[in-house]
Order: sequence, then C-alpha cells, then structure tokens
Amino acid sequence: MSIIYLASQNKHKVHEIQSILGKSWDIRACDELAPGISWDETGHTFRENALIKAQAVLAKGAHTVIADDSGLEVVALKGAPGIYSARYAGPNANDEDNNLKLLKEINHLPEEELKARFVCVICFLQEGADPIFFEGHCDGHLVKKTSGLKGFGYDPLFIPSAFHETFAELGDDVKNQISHRARALIKFEEHLRTEY
Ligand code: IMP
Repeated sequence: MSIIYLASQNKHKVHEIQSILGKSWDIRACDELAPGISWDETGHTFRENALIKAQAVLAKGAHTVIADDSGLEVVALKGAPGIYSARYAGPNANDEDNNLKLLKEINHLPEEELKARFVCVICFLQEGADPIFFEGHCDGHLVKKTSGLKGFGYDPLFIPSAFHETFAELGDDVKNQISHRARALIKFEEHLRTEY
C-alpha cells in the first residue's frame, strides 16, 4: 500500500479522502511526517495555493503528496471571497465572522444575483514529476439568513442547485455526494485507478 501525505492537519479531510480512495492508498496527515509544518498561502489562485502546500510537504521528504485549496466564489462579488474564503473577515476570522461579512456584502443584492459556487482544486505531486491538478465545482445560490447547524464555513448560507436547503441543513450524506471536494476527489481517484 502506497503512502500519500495530505498537506493538511484536518483529520476530517484525511478520513474523507481515505474513504473515497479505498484501501490501495494510505492517506496520512502531513504532521506525521513533519510535526509543526506550515506554509504561507501567497498564491493568487486556488491552484497556486494548492501547489504551495504540496511543495512544502514534498520538501520535508515525502515522495507522494496531495494538497487541496477551496473556497466560495460569489458571481456578483466578482468571485470574492475566493482564495480568501478562510480569512474574508480578517486574518483571525472564524466561520461566524466570515458569514456575517458575507451577509453584509450581499444584503443589497436582489435574489437573482445571489449565484455562487464552491471550488476545490487538488494538487497531486510526486518527487521528480510535474504537479497534476483536479478541479471540482458545486453551483448554487446564497441565502440572506443562515440556516442549519451541520457542516462548516459558509455551509449555512449556501443552497446547492436542485436543492431547497442549505448545506448546513442537508448534512454530510448529501454534501459528500455533490460537493466541490467530492467532485475533485472523484476525478483524482479515477486518475489513480487508471494510471497506477
Ligand atoms: P480550505 O481550502 O479547506 O482551507 O478552505 C478554505 C475556506 O473555504 C474554509 O475556511 C471555508 O471558509 C471555505 N470552504 C471551503 N470548503 C467549504 C465547504 O465545503 N463548506 C463551507 N465552506 C467551505
């Protein structure tokens, strides 16, 4: 079984990725290889940031790495918060702060201008090889009042297309079928299955 280090400390992501990739690959959090590892997300795109994270882990001696970068893009806000999703309301902002800031920004918009999408880019990087990227989107629209307690981040404000409830109301069973991350991961899994 080959090890893939994930450039994240998030145990939830390790399990989510492990369950999609199955038993042929052993997904480990990067702090098992390099405790305390950190990086600066100085990229201008999801791709650049995913690559920065993957390169940081490769530099610590890993042979095979994946990293993801994700966020919410609101059409009427010209793609904001985008790569700044985690720190939209400031460097130490939490999910509640970010949701409040987003609500303030969309408050004046009419219903038909609340289109948004989640984006996830996965970077697969192996020693001596070029990075390979996999992208997933989940289209939908925002609501002007938070609803639901499940999930994280902007989930209470986002209703995916063809649904009538927010991600925070729908929960993981639905979200893991249609989310931006699930879609990027499925493409990645197809790549591993056909190439290795
Ligand atoms: P990261 O790339 O996983 O670090 O996510 C960056 C930020 O994007 C998070 O802090 C959230 O604010 C937002 N985000 C990414 N994915 C999701 C999601 O599935 N639901 C809600 N917010 C998300």
